[in-house]
Amino acid sequence: MFKRINRLQTTQPVPAARLPYRVKLTAGKLYAWCACGHSKKQPFCDGAHASKAPGIKPVRFTPDKDKAVLLCACKQTKNQPYCDGSHLKHTHLEKHYR
Ligand code: FES
Repeated sequence: MFKRINRLQTTQPVPAARLPYRVKLTAGKLYAWCACGHSKKQPFCDGAHASKAPGIKPVRFTPDKDKAVLLCACKQTKNQPYCDGSHLKHTHLEKHYR
């Protein structure tokens, strides 16, 4: 038997943008950062991972104080959900940027 492969799904995150998103966060509020890159509500999850990248789950976090932060858009950060500058190293992903 042949294994059916869904070609619309990804196992690796796809970049949502070239630069991080500057976002004002509210203390005590629960956020879900999109880790797969498929959400249409970047940088937050809209549930798109369920059909497009089922192996990649959003990162949930709750800030302890009101603050402005840079949330990763390239989805390559090692400090999820925050930008760690990795987007500067991943210029080879250029073709994936929307
Ligand atoms: S946008 Fe991903 S590390 Fe900066």
